[in-house]
Amino acid sequence: MKGVILAGGTGSRLLPLTNFLNKHLLPVGPYPMIYWPIIKLKDAGINEILIITNKNHLSSFIELLGLGEELDVNIQYKIQSNEGGGIADALKLAKSFINDEKFVVLLGDNIFEDSLAPFVQSFHKQKMGARVILKEVKDLTRYGVPFIDKANRKIKSIIEKPSNPPSPYCVTGIYMYDQKVFEYIDTIHPSNRNELEITDVNNLYITDDQLQYDILLGWWIDAGTHESLYQANQCVYKNTMREDSKWNDTSL
Ligand code: G1P
Repeated sequence: MKGVILAGGTGSRLLPLTNFLNKHLLPVGPYPMIYWPIIKLKDAGINEILIITNKNHLSSFIELLGLGEELDVNIQYKIQSNEGGGIADALKLAKSFINDEKFVVLLGDNIFEDSLAPFVQSFHKQKMGARVILKEVKDLTRYGVPFIDKANRKIKSIIEKPSNPPSPYCVTGIYMYDQKVFEYIDTIHPSNRNELEITDVNNLYITDDQLQYDILLGWWIDAGTHESLYQANQCVYKNTMREDSKWNDTSL
């Protein structure tokens, strides 16, 4: 399986830090943020990774990561020309890289504790469709929130940034897709915030009864705001104290 990390966007909620630096290069613990999704993919056995970012920041990513030699993964890059175009718009660029396989997508600002390995294994066994990973959170209005039929383990719909959240869970930026995702993206239209929403894509999978889910047990943070970036640093440093050999291993 291959992995795609979305590392574009405007980073507007992290200004002025993001005036000159891509959000995914800001520090989280001892590393730039982008290291964490790479480490999570690698830990789950995924070594072929596409990073999608914007034109202005591509050279910084290449300077930092090269082709992945130091982290022992193979990294390719694509440029999202419309940097505010949304997650689904960026994902379109992965089509030629994916080449008929199922794949994992991570939003580069999602920092989390759980290993991806069990979810990737479940997705391996899933013949087709998509899989989203949920997490119980407090500030639900910031996220995509699923309406769940727990008895049948089905998501009935997902609402993006709901004022009345239909469950205590958010859909995290950890997604798994088959090839159909590219067909679905071609049918959706920009939302009120003028983005192609990944929630619209996931709702199309639901309509076809092809969306499954898992739930994260450990901490999870969308580090896209000043406060949550601070929390991500706190969580990573707490882990450092708990398992210092693991997080202090500079060879990764
Ligand atoms: C995006 C998705 C949202 C998801 C969140 C997870 O939100 O649209 O459904 O819950 O990532 O981090 P955004 O960061 O674009 O506001």
